[in-house]
Amino acid sequence: MDAMTAVGLDIDGVCLSFGGNRVLKDVSFSVGAGSITAIIGPNGAGKSSLLNVITGVYTPDAGDVTIRGRSAEVDVLALKPYELLRHGVARTFQNLELVAHMTVLENVLVGRHLRFRAAQIRSMLRTPGAMREERAHRRVCLDTLDFLGIGDVAHQEVHGLPYGVQKRVELARALVTDPRLLLLDEPVAGLNDEETAEMADTMRLIRDTGTCTQVIIEHDMKLIMSVADQIVVLDFGTLLTQGTPAQVSTHPEVIEAYLGSQASP
Ligand SMILES: Nc1ncnc2c1ncn2[C@@H]1O[C@H](COP(=O)(O)OP(=O)(O)OP(=O)(O)O)[C@@H](O)[C@H]1O
Ligand SMILES: [Mg+2]
Repeated sequence: MDAMTAVGLDIDGVCLSFGGNRVLKDVSFSVGAGSITAIIGPNGAGKSSLLNVITGVYTPDAGDVTIRGRSAEVDVLALKPYELLRHGVARTFQNLELVAHMTVLENVLVGRHLRFRAAQIRSMLRTPGAMREERAHRRVCLDTLDFLGIGDVAHQEVHGLPYGVQKRVELARALVTDPRLLLLDEPVAGLNDEETAEMADTMRLIRDTGTCTQVIIEHDMKLIMSVADQIVVLDFGTLLTQGTPAQVSTHPEVIEAYLGSQASP
């Protein structure tokens, strides 16, 4: 995949079931390179499952997932998990998946090393070149922590840090892999209003770099309406509607399910 350029994403006819439970029913949509797409829908709609299909955690019964660079297309479903990062696909999880008794910096370095595996092996040899490379990786990680406003806790253990800080550590770990496509599962769940606004600013800053497409699953409609270029609505595994925030917010079922309740005090 082209370096440093955001990629587009095509989801085409994805079907997924567990036993008799049809979780995704022929879901298709496209995401423009460099844009922010929000996936919304009630609990159990299949949002996280869709992310799990894109990242190879779940194998769909049917359908294709493709990322589009300027000069190449990649069949994402054919990639091995470790190949995803090398093709620039990174994600965060709905439930924090950090190592509690490692420092913030160590957690973020794990992401960097997963992306640059050769570096990890060479760094164990402790040659001067390898140590220089390792210092460069640490620099990238520390700069990313600064970018997210949490550089001051780099050397603290993750456990005991406020939840809002831990959410950013997880984002940092994804960002240091130099993603071209970043998948965020409920990035502001559990955050207060100020932290949510900061996360929205961060997403806009990432978009402004032009290097990374963002797909976010979120329940916070205020955040979605303010940052998303496109909204995809899933309802019990079916794509209900998709479009700009302005388009989607005129859809009767979306108003009923999401906007009506928020409009009343
Ligand atoms: N590994 C699994 N095994 C069996 N069923 C699963 C599995 N993963 C998801 N499901 C089922 O798929 C459906 C969709 O779940 P999913 O977690 O994708 O929903 P979601 O839209 O992310 O919901 P939420 O907003 O609560 O996070 C649910 O009925 C769930 O029980
Ligand atoms: Mg979910």
